[in-house]
Amino acid sequence: MNTDAVPLSGPRFQNEPARLYREMRAEHGAVTPVLLDGDVPGWLVLGYRELHQVTGDPVLFSRDSELWNQWDTIPGDWPLLPMIGRRQPSILYTVGERHRERAAMISNALEASDATQLRRHAERFADELIDAVCAKGTADLIGQYAMLLPVRVLARLYGFSDEEGPSLVAALNDVVDGREGALAGQRHIAASMTELLAARRVAPADDVVSRMLADPRGFTDEEIAQDLIVMLGAGHQPTAAWIGNSLRLMLTDARFAASLFGGRNSVAEAMNEVLWEDTPTSNFAGRWASRDTHLGGQNIRAGDLLILGLQAANSDPQVRPVGDDLSVGNNAHFSFGHGEHRCPFPAQEIAEVIARTGVGVVLDRLPDIDLAVPAESLSWRPSPWLRGLTELPVRFTPTPALGGN
Ligand code: HEM
Repeated sequence: MNTDAVPLSGPRFQNEPARLYREMRAEHGAVTPVLLDGDVPGWLVLGYRELHQVTGDPVLFSRDSELWNQWDTIPGDWPLLPMIGRRQPSILYTVGERHRERAAMISNALEASDATQLRRHAERFADELIDAVCAKGTADLIGQYAMLLPVRVLARLYGFSDEEGPSLVAALNDVVDGREGALAGQRHIAASMTELLAARRVAPADDVVSRMLADPRGFTDEEIAQDLIVMLGAGHQPTAAWIGNSLRLMLTDARFAASLFGGRNSVAEAMNEVLWEDTPTSNFAGRWASRDTHLGGQNIRAGDLLILGLQAANSDPQVRPVGDDLSVGNNAHFSFGHGEHRCPFPAQEIAEVIARTGVGVVLDRLPDIDLAVPAESLSWRPSPWLRGLTELPVRFTPTPALGGN
């Protein structure tokens, strides 16, 4: 074990990751040895250029988790297993030509979604969630809003009925939190996907699942079900955190205070700033070296795990001097990854519509909203992968529900 390795967990990592990344960079350079839960070793790629190199070379830095040289040491109940899967036949760990085909199938199916309808669904579900809290004058915008919204919209877009939405939300949040219901939640999601696929094989509709099934490249139901699970989970979590982190910024930073009363002008700016400073997918696992190599001055062995340090690379002082312009339109950040395995472009657009609508509806419906606790007391989830708040307690003047409009 590398004795200099930095744990990718603990209070400092949770509370002040930006400072920790700066220290790691000063001590180890652009590629830092880290320890995951249970002292499992990996490399955190903090440098913007190095991250470009890793994500731009899918042969040397493969997405095939089977290459990992640590599998012998990983216990079956390792808590990070769901995020570093083994032998999962989803798009996430597929490589080469089959990956390109699968990514194209997913992109095409998402791209054909009607943007106006998407916005309408997002508005309707957001209004429903605000309706449930607006008469009370207080709410937790994470647990009662952000964590419930993207999954409802995505489920509808993919092909689920409105009635199935709430149970999918509950199941997905159980799986992510690793609560008692995690396994039952996972089974519920898998069974719901199988049912939906069977129904759409018989009677296709105008939805994402039907388009995936109709793809001329031909994918098995198993492949499509696996990818749908990824698209639901990988879509919901970061989009929910994007909403929560943007609302936090607007509620805690004086630069945005005026817009809380005045409208939506700076929602796009806040959302963009979040992608640079507090990006939802802060670290992503990952890539595996297919042979011995050098990176950022470190010797990387075949089979080593490289974790994409997306948040750290976004603030690499070599490419982003302090005080640099974060204006909308400057999207040279790494928040959606890069290269062949990056987040599909249509997925990014869908996430943006859901997040922008989600933030906008809060500001429209609760115009005098304010934090109900001191900003310093807000706490971040302990996840090594996701940068999101545990709660965002707010207060506002109680208003009547819109009710079904
Ligand atoms: C509608 C919402 C979304 C959907 C459906 C979605 C879907 C996906 C899928 C299918 C992949 C795997 C791509 C592949 O392996 O080829 C992926 C990767 C990824 N997504 Fe998303 N995503 C969504 C939102 C987001 C958001 C909001 C963020 C962060 C701001 C994000 C960040 C990422 C990152 C960092 C990767 C990995 C990129 C890499 O390995 O280089 N995604 N996403």
